[in-house]
Amino acid sequence: MSVLELDALSVRFGGHLAVSECSMRVEGGRVSGLIGPNGAGKTTTFNVICGVVQPSAGRVLLDGTDISKYGTHQRARLGIGRTFQRLEVFGSLTVRENVQVGLEIRRSWSRRKAALPQYLAGGGDPDPAEEIDLILERLELTHLADELVGALPTGHARLVELGRALAARPSVLLLDEPASGLDDHETVAFGDLLGVLASNGLGILLVEHDVSLVMRVCEQLSVLDFGQVIASGTPEEVRSNEAVLAAYLGTSPVGDGPAS
Ligand SMILES: Nc1ncnc2c1ncn2[C@@H]1O[C@H](COP(=O)(O)OP(=O)(O)OP(=O)(O)O)[C@@H](O)[C@H]1O
Ligand SMILES: [Mg+2]
Repeated sequence: MSVLELDALSVRFGGHLAVSECSMRVEGGRVSGLIGPNGAGKTTTFNVICGVVQPSAGRVLLDGTDISKYGTHQRARLGIGRTFQRLEVFGSLTVRENVQVGLEIRRSWSRRKAALPQYLAGGGDPDPAEEIDLILERLELTHLADELVGALPTGHARLVELGRALAARPSVLLLDEPASGLDDHETVAFGDLLGVLASNGLGILLVEHDVSLVMRVCEQLSVLDFGQVIASGTPEEVRSNEAVLAAYLGTSPVGDGPAS
């Protein structure tokens, strides 16, 4: 069973159909990609999954349960984690405190049958203090633990946001342009980290304009254009799909550089 399933989601903003009958599945233990040009509906789709935006039609299923009517906090507790296209961190808190915020969500796991594993720790269940240390260590943030996040460069702040999401122990993690603001070295390391998380069992849905990162880490891609899924399949299948080349990349073949 897929960890996350979107079933014919549509979103209207007034007269504008931002997402149109969008269906896709995210499997545990792999990185899936959601790509498409600016304005295609990717962030809106994430917002529907999290419950920030209400769809005009369609359903969101987590582990087979229809969560379409659940609030954002309930979805977070049940295992939906995310980062934001426009970085959302607590600038006046330290790196360690930002990551600790993610733990808070686990104080109320009543709707969950059992605690989810910490995929960064290979699926184990470390105690909270150890877990924060482990997250900081794995994200190479230990030396910055007591720094205020507002003073950090974007690359580090994005890792802090990821650390906070991981501290909540998601079963599916939505990443909205996480490589934006990272340099080449940081992007490669980030891709490696996604591979580790997926190999430990986490389901990841990646929205990203960095085509080389997408092609390297994603096993499965869905392509949105004007709110519709115009193609889905492996990166190899998608990169040679004519609808994708025409509608999303113009005439350039996928892999030549940033998509927008
Ligand atoms: N709150 C809103 N009210 C009205 N229109 C919106 C709202 N949010 C998004 N839109 C519109 O919905 C469409 C999809 O936007 P969305 O942000 O989901 O695209 P995206 O694929 O994430 O683009 P990008 O790659 O630039 O981040 C756009 O036309 C956008 O202007
Ligand atoms: Mg977006």
